[in-house]
Amino acid sequence: MLQILCLFIVFMCFWHESCSYHYSNGHDIFKSFKTKAKKYHPPPPAHRMYPPPPPPPAPANPSQPPAPTGRTKSPSTKPGQAPLAVVESEAAFTLYHGRNFKVIQNLFYNFTYLLLQQVGDSIGKDWDLNISVFPDPLTNFTLDTSSAVGFLELLGCVGKLKGVPVSFGVASPCISQLILQGTIPTVELDNSSVDLNATSLNVTFEALFGSSTNVQLPGRGQNQSNYVSFDSSIDRGPLQRAEWIKFLASFVDMEQRANIVYDKIQSNYQCLNASGKGNNVSKPLVAWASYSMDLGVWTFSNDPYKLQLNLDAGGLNLDYANLSVFFNMSIEANVEDFHTIASTLDVMIDETYIPDPSGYTWDNLTTSANITDKSAFPFLVHKRLWRHDKRIGINNALDWMEGANAQPQVVLRDLIEVLYPPLNDGRGYNITYFRNIAIGESFVNTTTSECPRVDMTSALEPTIIPCTNQSRF
Ligand SMILES: *[C@@H]1O[C@H](CO)[C@@H](O)[C@H](O)[C@H]1NC(C)=O
Ligand SMILES: *[C@@H]1O[C@H](CO)[C@@H](O)[C@H](O)[C@H]1NC(C)=O
Ligand SMILES: *[C@@H]1O[C@H](CO)[C@@H](O)[C@H](O)[C@H]1NC(C)=O
Ligand SMILES: *[C@@H]1O[C@H](CO)[C@@H](O)[C@H](O)[C@H]1NC(C)=O
Ligand SMILES: *[C@@H]1O[C@H](CO)[C@@H](O)[C@H](O)[C@H]1NC(C)=O
Ligand SMILES: *[C@@H]1O[C@H](CO)[C@@H](O)[C@H](O)[C@H]1NC(C)=O
Ligand SMILES: *[C@@H]1O[C@H](CO)[C@@H](O)[C@H](O)[C@H]1NC(C)=O
Ligand SMILES: *[C@@H]1O[C@H](CO)[C@@H](O)[C@H](O)[C@H]1NC(C)=O
Ligand SMILES: *[C@@H]1O[C@H](CO)[C@@H](O)[C@H](O)[C@H]1NC(C)=O
Ligand SMILES: *[C@@H]1O[C@H](CO)[C@@H](O)[C@H](O)[C@H]1NC(C)=O
Ligand SMILES: *[C@@H]1O[C@H](CO)[C@@H](O)[C@H](O)[C@H]1NC(C)=O
Ligand SMILES: *[C@@H]1O[C@H](CO)[C@@H](O)[C@H](O)[C@H]1NC(C)=O
Repeated sequence: MLQILCLFIVFMCFWHESCSYHYSNGHDIFKSFKTKAKKYHPPPPAHRMYPPPPPPPAPANPSQPPAPTGRTKSPSTKPGQAPLAVVESEAAFTLYHGRNFKVIQNLFYNFTYLLLQQVGDSIGKDWDLNISVFPDPLTNFTLDTSSAVGFLELLGCVGKLKGVPVSFGVASPCISQLILQGTIPTVELDNSSVDLNATSLNVTFEALFGSSTNVQLPGRGQNQSNYVSFDSSIDRGPLQRAEWIKFLASFVDMEQRANIVYDKIQSNYQCLNASGKGNNVSKPLVAWASYSMDLGVWTFSNDPYKLQLNLDAGGLNLDYANLSVFFNMSIEANVEDFHTIASTLDVMIDETYIPDPSGYTWDNLTTSANITDKSAFPFLVHKRLWRHDKRIGINNALDWMEGANAQPQVVLRDLIEVLYPPLNDGRGYNITYFRNIAIGESFVNTTTSECPRVDMTSALEPTIIPCTNQSRF
């Protein structure tokens, strides 16, 4: 019976115009996904189906949700009611809110989550259909990815986080403290951190939010009944990433809060968006780059998320269409090419993974990049070498993975400060996520920071950055 219900609902979603709207964007999502695939090694993304399949068969049971009568504009609208939430930014998921059910689809992995009200213990999974069924709302869940943390705090549903794996890394001062004081207990996961098998947990959770990009064995995380793939951190743009708050909110019945938060973030972001401003100044050329110690290779990132942020902050990107992005530092010609490109940069953001952030200086970069004459590199001469690991927490987790995904307006404001250094106009702004290692700026250990909220599980208000529509340039 459950299977029939699933089939029916999925077909209904396919049939629906709002879903087809998102499918029509599937190609772009797929494209941007492919450019990221190199770095993240996720399982291959599933193809969307074009065109939508034929209309569903008549419902077998009249007590099931009614079929949409033809194509209507807002699937989740009951007469006289607004939809609970809609995806506005072409983020890689779809929402379908019915009368007493919700269908949420993760477009990266073609995975569908069916949320049912009043279903008792019908949590389950149909592997053939890639559908998992959850009670709506969830009363508890656990996390395998810190990328959901910033969203939980904005929603104010941290109270439902009833446990985290022992190896869990988190930078939020509030959640760190809840974990350190035992309010959020740590639970044993099976031996290896990639084994997300729910049955190996000593406690059960209604849901485990994980990021499939963490899972080295493709499909393994998906393959447990309570697993939800939460993939904000691989979506293609800053606002797309922020909109995953609606994905999460659907599981805890907090769509209204999600809408309010997203709207605030979106409008603050667009106010700060400086891409069209500053036409009269020369825009700085900026690149995000990282060194792989294992491979001896420097890489420039063409991740669309970062390119968008660069532009929106009023910077310029390298011409990635005509650029090799991998440079093998043991091949002389590669080194020369790398130097040629790096010497054009005004600002570099060094994303190199480092196990010990305190020991990394620009000498590490000049060594790995075989740079002897610093004077040929403006970003070194003018000391504009940054990293995004300013805030580090438990198990070396970066707030970059948490707050930055959830609140891109702060990242944008930071980046504007990085690209257009302070004017000493008394408007002082403290950068949240970036630190300048060229001037030896150190990181902040968030584990030792205080949670600014008395009730540590209460909702965090989004940071609204003062913004006039005036250009600061
Ligand atoms: C994607 O999911 C739908 C059902 O949700 C299924 O019909 C389709 O075959 C899936 N496609 C792939 C490539 O897995
Ligand atoms: C279900 O997901 C797996 C792994 O992501 C995929 O290989 C398979 O084609 C999917 N099946 C359907 C019916 O979508
Ligand atoms: C963990 O796994 C490794 C190899 O997979 C094994 O050698 C080790 O004994 C395991 N440890 C525990 C506590 O199960
Ligand atoms: C999950 O755990 C159970 C019990 O330890 C085991 O029998 C099963 O094979 C595991 N499944 C996967 C996919 O690892
Ligand atoms: C699981 O829980 C039981 C009872 O609460 C406890 O006795 C047992 O030691 C736990 N096992 C692990 C692996 O934590
Ligand atoms: C989560 O909820 C389920 C069902 O309501 C319950 O069986 C389980 O013990 C809960 N887990 C925790 C950690 O509270
Ligand atoms: C997931 O589980 C199903 C059913 O147990 C099995 O047929 C399938 O091969 C598993 N897939 C993966 C990727 O482990
Ligand atoms: C920022 O503004 C530019 C042009 O004004 C626009 O093209 C870009 O899409 C905006 N950024 C976002 C994330 O919407
Ligand atoms: C590194 O720099 C040194 C000194 O400039 C040079 O002799 C050497 O060939 C360079 N190595 C590579 C691989 O280019
Ligand atoms: C950076 O350089 C210092 C001093 O040479 C060294 O101890 C450290 O291991 C280097 N770190 C990395 C990540 O290369
Ligand atoms: C920046 O941080 C310093 C030190 O924590 C603080 O004194 C100052 O007030 C902050 N400035 C702003 C504008 O928040
Ligand atoms: C942060 O502080 C805690 C507690 O003092 C410490 O255990 C941890 O190693 C520190 N983290 C870093 C990255 O220094």
